[in-house]
Amino acid sequence: MTDEKAKQGSEERSIVLELNNISKTFYSDSGEAVRALEGLNLIVREGEFITLVGATGCGKTTLLNLIAGLDSPDDGQLCLGKDLRLGNNIAYVFQHYTLFPWRSTVSNVSFGLQMQGIGRNKRKEKALKLLSKVGLGGFENTYPYELSGGMRQRAAIAQALAIQPKLLLMDEPFGALDDSTRRELQQMLTELWQENRTTILFVTHNIDEAVVLGEKVLVFSDRSGKIVREFDVELPRPRNIITKEFTSLFMQIRQSLSTQLD
Ligand SMILES: Nc1ncnc2c1ncn2[C@@H]1O[C@H](COP(=O)(O)OP(=O)(O)OP(=O)(O)O)[C@@H](O)[C@H]1O
Ligand SMILES: [Mg+2]
Repeated sequence: MTDEKAKQGSEERSIVLELNNISKTFYSDSGEAVRALEGLNLIVREGEFITLVGATGCGKTTLLNLIAGLDSPDDGQLCLGKDLRLGNNIAYVFQHYTLFPWRSTVSNVSFGLQMQGIGRNKRKEKALKLLSKVGLGGFENTYPYELSGGMRQRAAIAQALAIQPKLLLMDEPFGALDDSTRRELQQMLTELWQENRTTILFVTHNIDEAVVLGEKVLVFSDRSGKIVREFDVELPRPRNIITKEFTSLFMQIRQSLSTQLD
């Protein structure tokens, strides 16, 4: 499907996730209240690739954790599509590598399938296919400690995709990688999304990354714990960051982030 076609149909696509007026407050050890989210609204439709950009501490991880069901909101409604839940059809890729150190790469990738009760041969076959897709063909018998940071994130993405999630949550998954590895993984993720159209909610504090990846970039407020701006990205893929259009969008997003800091 072309990006254009995907876009045309976007209003008809079913809603995977809807958040209305979500708030979440944490309390420090000294009892001080930290409003992580306040009155946040968000709708995510099937097949969308949404990037969420915001400064450190603005509530991005909190938002993903609420969606994943790892925490619950204090207020507001969080509606997930039918039967959506973490591990079943929601997958979560974290910034820091979360592969099991005692499992081989292929066994890490097939973990979710094992949890779903899929037989050994079938899950191995599927995991090997995915490993080859993420550029890790031939590394199936290695262990996480033998892989570079970029390779571990490739394996983590394969692990997440193995369950064919309806919703893929990604929390700064490329944040710890060097620039060229990061570009390679962005390209790989773009291709996987173009092939599968998995709904993705990708959090980053890197504006470049948000524009390279997203169909839509949502800007998080660092003050009020909600989404304050939305930008549609209509640039062709793979996206070239050295173009006038890219720079213009980058500047608008940067402006909307820095306005909040005034
Ligand atoms: N369990 C917790 N207890 C107390 N405060 C918390 C807790 N989790 C998050 N916070 C606070 O809530 C706010 C939002 O945190 P969150 O981790 O969601 O931010 P973030 O946007 O993901 O930041 P980063 O870009 O650094 O990952 C921060 O001020 C943080 O200190
Ligand atoms: Mg975070």
